[in-house]
Amino acid sequence: MNMSARQILVTSALPYANGAIHLGHLVEYIQTDIWVRFQKMRGHACWYVCADDTHGTPIMLRAEKEGISPEQLIARVHGEHSRDFAGFHVQFDNYHSTHTAETRFYAEDIYKKLKAAGLIEVRAIEQFYDPVKQMFLPDRYIKGECPKCGAKDQYGDSCEACGAAYAPTELKNPLSAVSGAKPELKSSDHYFFKLSDPSCQSFLREWTRQGSLQAEASNKLQEWLGAEGENKLTDWDISRDSPYFGFEIPDAPGKYFYVWLDAPIGYMGSFKNLCAKQGLNFDDYWKPDSTAELYHFIGKDILYFHALFWPAELQHAGYRTPTNVFAHGFLTVDGAKMSKSRGTFITAESYLEQGLNPEWLRYYFAAKLNGTMEDLDLNLDDFLSRVNSDLVGKYINIASRAAGFIAKRFGGKLLHAHIADAFATDLPGVMEAAEEIAGYYEARDFARALRRVMALADQVNQYVDKHQPWQLAKSEENAERLHHVCTLLINAFRLLTLYLKPVLPKLAQRAEEFLNIAPLHWADAAHLLPPEHLINPYEHLMTRIEAKQIDALLAANRETLGTNAAPVPEAPSPQRHAQHQQQTEDKMPQTDHISIDDFAKIDLRIARIANAEHVEGAEKLLKLALDLGPLGMRQVFAGIKSAYDPAKLIGRLTVVVANLAPRKMKFGMSEGMVLAASDPEGQISGLYLLSPDSGATPGMQVK
Ligand code: MSP
Ligand code: ZN
Repeated sequence: MNMSARQILVTSALPYANGAIHLGHLVEYIQTDIWVRFQKMRGHACWYVCADDTHGTPIMLRAEKEGISPEQLIARVHGEHSRDFAGFHVQFDNYHSTHTAETRFYAEDIYKKLKAAGLIEVRAIEQFYDPVKQMFLPDRYIKGECPKCGAKDQYGDSCEACGAAYAPTELKNPLSAVSGAKPELKSSDHYFFKLSDPSCQSFLREWTRQGSLQAEASNKLQEWLGAEGENKLTDWDISRDSPYFGFEIPDAPGKYFYVWLDAPIGYMGSFKNLCAKQGLNFDDYWKPDSTAELYHFIGKDILYFHALFWPAELQHAGYRTPTNVFAHGFLTVDGAKMSKSRGTFITAESYLEQGLNPEWLRYYFAAKLNGTMEDLDLNLDDFLSRVNSDLVGKYINIASRAAGFIAKRFGGKLLHAHIADAFATDLPGVMEAAEEIAGYYEARDFARALRRVMALADQVNQYVDKHQPWQLAKSEENAERLHHVCTLLINAFRLLTLYLKPVLPKLAQRAEEFLNIAPLHWADAAHLLPPEHLINPYEHLMTRIEAKQIDALLAANRETLGTNAAPVPEAPSPQRHAQHQQQTEDKMPQTDHISIDDFAKIDLRIARIANAEHVEGAEKLLKLALDLGPLGMRQVFAGIKSAYDPAKLIGRLTVVVANLAPRKMKFGMSEGMVLAASDPEGQISGLYLLSPDSGATPGMQVK
């Protein structure tokens, strides 16, 4: 460890112990893991802790429904979550639980200190009570008609039909979702954390003004706090009545800490548990004047808890406050909220079970994460093409192009001479980019880091194309030159591996074995491999994604309505199959060549299908009205009736041959041709219309 090593404690939000980890969750854990791995590679003392969030009514009721105790439920889920995280190479230094002695200790401790500071108050409140189940009902367990729009079957806190937010007591005809009984209003004592106290307000105003908060988070917080002098924060209800699964409040029998009181305290509990295992000093990280850094990675939905309640609790209980809170956006799949009926509510377990490589997803998420609170989309077509073209096509390709020659021609040994000067001249920037890329990782702009790495990979591939090792290999007199070129390439591959290692830890480990080197640290970017370094035989490091794997993943996650029959496989997505065929093209039999000039004669353009309709009397044809942007409208008859419902085509973008001579057909003029893929052997049925990537607009040229 160097002199400037930092002490850093990092957390991800604690997932609830009543559900499976899904790809939405993984946005967070993968993001945090990448950042932590990066810090460790930099030589800092960085600890990553997390835990299951085990308390609350939903967990209590879920266990009851399964006929087991809450303790049994949370033990099982702890195993499932740990397995899923390990499967995606999310490497916590400690994965604990909130239902532990450590978390109980700090929950009681913080509560007592807040009480001593005069910040806890007891007040009676009226709440809905289920007389059959004999319990107070959380808002989400009351259903009724929306007081604003009258929509039926809405939850007690907000209406999904009109978006209105209200108190459960405002619902019309309320019913308990637990027993179906009509709830009664009943009074009970609750414990409140006095967030409205002037000391909390002024502290939070100052805390949220620190310059390092994300811009969007800072705006949200100012909105919640209100203008100077305004007192918008209300006291926070931190107790729940029995029956409840949680920690009983020390001096209040029958009253429990609300799950959100002990959940963030679980960060401390997990760290305390790690301290015992690692011989660390808890106070070094948590005392008020600690110089260690503390960061919480969270989703934007829980910013309020982490940036208001949590710092206020810590401050007034005599602990340090977070250095920063890093909020991220929500995951959508193919542009929409994850959906069980579409099969896009994808669990971590199913992804791994279907045999998809977890590092594909890590790479894709990283390529989309830029350190802001913007939502991010998993576009499944883009996922396939980006992983295949960037990771396999650009990065892995460098090793596979050079390794064979080194093994076969030079006994696995790199060149005897020092190549540092040649490397700097022929591949300028590849070594020098290390600090720039580190800066992007540090700022959590992984998208930018990866764009930079892929630009370097492009540069290295251009070097390959320029020097054509396969040509050099043809004559013995070029042996030295071949050795030189391949030695440079292996060194370039090593550096790119280092830059990608936080994102692709497993792949990097296998690359390190191939390169026959010790685990890479960031400082290793400052030197190259020594002369005559011996590398190991190359084994393929990563395969391409196939479209059918994604189709199978969606099928495995699709819930069919009302039955528990096996999911029905859906017709494969046309776009994905078109792309799949492009990617396997290199394995296709060779056909006669045409020159680039021949190809340039074809004017391919992006078109929007403005209208599509059946043609009376035509068996195979659909009539399309195509919008080619600046080139105007075209009418085209396309033989795709067997494969497409015209209504579904309207609005879609496709590719059209714009300079095909117009042809008079039985049904009218056809002024172009749309492009679709099909299997020449007829083994795979169907026709698949081409689509451009998102961002293309009508009239753009395809070349
Ligand atoms: N238990 C609380 C957190 C307590 S932290 C002291 C909780 N659990 S959760 O399981 O619902 O979510 C865990 C994390 O995953 C949260 O940060 C949440 O924002 C994140 N995500 C859950 N679904 C998500 C997406 N669809 N997309 C991105 N992140 C998502 O909240
Ligand atoms: Zn409504």
